[in-house]
Amino acid sequence: MGQFISEVKRTHRCGELTGKNVGERAVLFGWVHTRRDHGGAVFIDMRDRTGLTQVVFDPSLANVPEPLRSTLDGASVAAAHQLAHAQLRSEFCFGVEGVVVSRGENVNPKMKTGEIEVVAVRLEIFNRSEAVPFPLDDDIDTAEDKRLAYRYLDLRRRPLQEALVQRSRANRIVRSYFGEREFVELETPFLVKYTPGGARNFLVPARLSPGKFYALAESPQLFKQLFMVAGFDRYFQLVKCFRDEDLRLDRQPEFTQIDVEMSFVSQDDVFTEIEGLLRRLWKELLNVELPVPFPRMAFDESMRRFGNDKPDLRFGLEHVELTEVIKAHPEGGLPLFVEAVEQGGIAKAIRVPARHPLSRKEQDELETVCKGMGAKGLARAKVGESGEWTQSPLAKTVTPGLRQAINAATGAEAGDLLLFQFGKESVVHTVLANLRLHLGKKLKLIPEHGTDGRWNFLWVVDPPLFEYDEEQERYVAAHHAFTRPHDEDVPLLETDPGKVKCYRYDCVLNGFEIGGGSIRLHDPEVQARVFQALGISEAEAQEKFGFLLQALKFGAPPHGGIALGMDRLAMLMAGAPSLRDVIPFPKTQKGTDLMTDAPGSVSAEQLAELKVRTLAVEPPRE
Ligand code: AMO
Repeated sequence: MGQFISEVKRTHRCGELTGKNVGERAVLFGWVHTRRDHGGAVFIDMRDRTGLTQVVFDPSLANVPEPLRSTLDGASVAAAHQLAHAQLRSEFCFGVEGVVVSRGENVNPKMKTGEIEVVAVRLEIFNRSEAVPFPLDDDIDTAEDKRLAYRYLDLRRRPLQEALVQRSRANRIVRSYFGEREFVELETPFLVKYTPGGARNFLVPARLSPGKFYALAESPQLFKQLFMVAGFDRYFQLVKCFRDEDLRLDRQPEFTQIDVEMSFVSQDDVFTEIEGLLRRLWKELLNVELPVPFPRMAFDESMRRFGNDKPDLRFGLEHVELTEVIKAHPEGGLPLFVEAVEQGGIAKAIRVPARHPLSRKEQDELETVCKGMGAKGLARAKVGESGEWTQSPLAKTVTPGLRQAINAATGAEAGDLLLFQFGKESVVHTVLANLRLHLGKKLKLIPEHGTDGRWNFLWVVDPPLFEYDEEQERYVAAHHAFTRPHDEDVPLLETDPGKVKCYRYDCVLNGFEIGGGSIRLHDPEVQARVFQALGISEAEAQEKFGFLLQALKFGAPPHGGIALGMDRLAMLMAGAPSLRDVIPFPKTQKGTDLMTDAPGSVSAEQLAELKVRTLAVEPPRE
């Protein structure tokens, strides 16, 4: 084997030979993708990461025209055919030397290399393969668990290879974009001090400080601000972040950010840099011209119309606010709605137009979906020819006045279906936001990713600085405590903190949050007032963020930044349904790696060395 590799060098990749190469000598390295043995001749589709080439082992050399044919070593051709016939099997790794010939009338237009085939003169089998546990086709329906357990085989499949190669190109574009614009790529530590708030951290026992723990950095946030204090001015990093959260299709415990921080910038400056980057990525990778600037929507408007802060604007089915209508009709015959609103809740509806009819059974399924998201049920009514409600218990009790008011607010027409939620604002929003998405998919209102140019980018801006935490009965920072409030809202910090808006922003693409950031608070006086509004004492602030507070006292420049989720960007650009399709070795929903079997148990000695005792049911490995 060593001989073949040292004697002949690869001349081409499997995806590149065309009619232009006919008559050339070719040396290819790769795997047996498919194999057909016709007795006299063996046909192999040979695969490497660039594509497929048909290799023919045919001692008759029927396809090779003269004078090329007489230049070939007949004995070697026959030996290669014999070896291919007797031994070469699926997924074997091999090298072949041969000549490129035209397929003549047998051109395969579906293959990039379909004009040609390589007639083998010499074959070397580098390694055999056991029968693979699942077919390595482009489209497969093998259970994902099995694919993850043999991830290195799954990664031989073209869709995954293409997505990962595209991701690699994206990394290169990111580095060159920021490099050209005088950003400095700087690294930050992964092993950091645990600070409460934000996402839950993974903890790492510190052997050299028994009983103490590092946290794995959930983002470089505080460090990148310190780079600004240090005067680096413009920073970026492609960086792994770690969060011990509940996982979803768009959430992994370790993921990659394109992390950015800039000094002396306004929100608009940050947007311009990021829009430029996304434009470059879309142009170079997808050949799509993104129009800039991206539209902006206020957080409040997004919540009102879509129930969340990452609206997918590629389809309608917007929420309709009914709280005021209900308040205006306390005797309107919908007592449960009234009760909810009186208790401080809200009422909203989604109108499904008549052109998307839903059967009773389908409506019941929608109710099940809503219940799965925390709803008590799904009140609904079908609208009749003269605006009357049918197919609904509400129809019996609602007064004509309230019914007409709701029909008017929702714009309901004959044949439409109204779907209602009422109760606690957060629950109503979550349920209806998810119901809207569910309906969008079910009714096929969402275009395929990227088709007809419908890449829907949006900045969601001006959210509140604080959120009211009902469990703790106090305000907490909606993002982090170093976000700059709008100047005109600063006086509200003491009087009405819930109304303070801030310079935080999210970048949304087709309903996914692909990035988030803020202009930071660098003024110690306002900072102190924010802590006060949060009920954080000076001592507590020192304990939690002492080093940053200290640093801000040494001439910190005004600064702001953002982090884009690289995995989500790669997923959307590849049109993939899950982050697992763009991460080479991802974790499952339960945070496990089915190939290496991580996380694993460790020995009692290892734990003792770390001064850690486990309460887990499963005893440590002896
Ligand atoms: P944020 O927490 O919004 O901001 O994260 C930035 C972006 O990272 C992506 N992301 C994730 N992707 C995959 N799996 C996850 N578990 C996950 N969590 C987040 C999202 C998100 O928009 N330090 C701030 C940024 C800043 O203020 O500059 C931060 O980390 O696409």
